[in-house]
Amino acid sequence: MTSRPVIDDLSSFWMPFTANRQFKAAPRLLESAKGMYYRSTDGREILDGCAGLWCVNAGHSRDEIVAAITQQLSTLDFAPTFQMGHPLAFEAAAKVAELMPTGLDRIFFTNSGSESVDTALKIALAYHRARGEGQRTRLIGRERGYHGVGFGGISVGGIAPNRKTFSGALLPAVDHLPHTHNLEHNAFSKGQPAWGAHLAEELERIVTLHDASTIAAVIVEPVAGSTGVLIPPQGYLQKLREICTKHGILLIFDEVITGFGRLGKATASEYFGVTPDLITLAKAINNASIPMGAVAASRAIHDTVVGSGAPGAIELFHGYTYSAHPAAAAAAIATLDLYRRDHLFERAASLAPRFEAAAHALRDAKHVKDVRNLGLVAGIELEARDGAPGARAYEAFVKCFEAGVLIRFTGDILAFSPPLIVDEEQIARIFQTVGEVLATVQ
Ligand SMILES: Cc1ncc(COP(=O)(O)O)c(C=O)c1O
Repeated sequence: MTSRPVIDDLSSFWMPFTANRQFKAAPRLLESAKGMYYRSTDGREILDGCAGLWCVNAGHSRDEIVAAITQQLSTLDFAPTFQMGHPLAFEAAAKVAELMPTGLDRIFFTNSGSESVDTALKIALAYHRARGEGQRTRLIGRERGYHGVGFGGISVGGIAPNRKTFSGALLPAVDHLPHTHNLEHNAFSKGQPAWGAHLAEELERIVTLHDASTIAAVIVEPVAGSTGVLIPPQGYLQKLREICTKHGILLIFDEVITGFGRLGKATASEYFGVTPDLITLAKAINNASIPMGAVAASRAIHDTVVGSGAPGAIELFHGYTYSAHPAAAAAAIATLDLYRRDHLFERAASLAPRFEAAAHALRDAKHVKDVRNLGLVAGIELEARDGAPGARAYEAFVKCFEAGVLIRFTGDILAFSPPLIVDEEQIARIFQTVGEVLATVQ
């Protein structure tokens, strides 16, 4: 393998969601990856404890996916999907549809989770308008929700720093459910916490306040990841579904993280046995090898919107130049075949108890105030350092990286979501490293 000289001027790249000055003063650079491991530019192997950014579910640089992309780029590098098509777009859509809950088999392709969220919100508005209820424009999100960074996504999202700078430009007709995080009741829950289903009933209060006839959709992450791993209380999602159905409100599950095996099933919807009306997807849809996202819509929604257009007229004025890009579509087909061939969703399910045990073994580690988990997702919440929120988790993250393990952190919460090919030894190493690191963290 040829390795490029390490770049010494890092100034041009304005890095996303990064403390740029801090990073550039002490950079962490990855130059290659294979399977469960990254290799850093200083030649160290780094065990990937978070599947890149919750997205490389089949492990890195899989030959089958690389081959599919390479072949596709030399066969058909690009084709428009506006008033044109190419076969892989339809094949990829059919393969994604196969994995969705029954009835959610109409697939709109995007290039990212943020775009999937904005697309789903727009489809919700278009659906109500098509059925003569165009006054249903209000969107309900949830405190601490993360739905990407588009204006729609940050409006329904509930992470304060993501909204603050842009607060004057958020969508106007939005309300938020309360989040479900409460350590008084739920600390150290294994799997779904027992307390908190009643918080879904706050939706009834919001409906009473605004009237159901003004509300288009509710959007939640079935398991909230980026905000620091919040597992839904038992019965909570079922209750949200009931209330939405009762009032004719669409339910959107943002499965950008949970889609494609993270909980041991193709979707969280399948895992929880709760079927929403729309599902947003991205990340593991093609193992993050090429940017791609999607919205899975119920046939009823699709048929209502598409059926409402005049013959020959475009029914939904929405789309991206790269919707169903040939290389991304080829990667999705290869990825979904790989998940099936290697039984990776089942593998995630069978490893989940081991993963849970390894995470909870840290309950008495220094600074730990909560451990929570579901499927192959875990969060370890630390006591914040006085006057410096986030600093302790950052120190732990850097020390883990130096010790050869990549994890994520949000505020003072460490997050774990390894590729689904992880083995028991690697699970043990991830949490053992964190335990050793926490003992040294101030
Ligand atoms: C639930 C959820 N929605 C949306 C997004 C945004 O996805 P992207 O960064 O691909 O735009 C993310 C990213 O982590 C996510 O976790």
